[in-house]
Amino acid sequence: MKTFKKILFWSLVTFTVIQFIPTDKSNKPVDHKINFIDLKKTPPKVTELLKGACYDCHSDETVYPKYAYIAPFSWSVKSHVNEGREHLNFSVWGKYNDNLKKSMLEKSVQTIEDHSMPFPGYVVYHEKANLRKADRALLIQYFEGLLKSKAY
Ligand code: HEC
Repeated sequence: MKTFKKILFWSLVTFTVIQFIPTDKSNKPVDHKINFIDLKKTPPKVTELLKGACYDCHSDETVYPKYAYIAPFSWSVKSHVNEGREHLNFSVWGKYNDNLKKSMLEKSVQTIEDHSMPFPGYVVYHEKANLRKADRALLIQYFEGLLKSKAY
């Protein structure tokens, strides 16, 4: 019992202490001249799907969930956001060259098709990211349309 209490005590201390390790949850201001949704004037439904299912990790408009304020979950969320933005940031779409745009559109189609995006762990806590079959089809059709017309 004594050991159990000690473990519990030190776990609580650790949990409390790690809350003071900050994670930067500030968003950079969005330049609407290079933001994908503004540039492409995406149809309302596509905008809704992108904002609800992709923009939290692939833009500078991240809306952090409540659990993102509690360590150690905050670290995991922040690392997904950092990594997501590094790979693909829709907020700076206008700065990408045509090759990168084409490749990102192709990869988006592929990842939506094979259900690797939106990130499965994220979907559990985000109803809007739980894409229906028709939602996936619409996003794929939209991205493929851009690829076909070369209107990256
Ligand atoms: C919870 C965060 C999160 C969400 C939401 C999310 N992604 Fe990602 N995405 C990531 C991370 C992290 C990576 C990089 C690691 C990996 O590929 O698994 C990534 C990688 C990608 C890549 C691959 C880029 C490359 O360079 O290979 C594409 C394309 C992509 N995501 C598209 C999307 C699309 C489209 C959506 C919405 C339908 C979406 N993602 C939703 C976190 C996310």
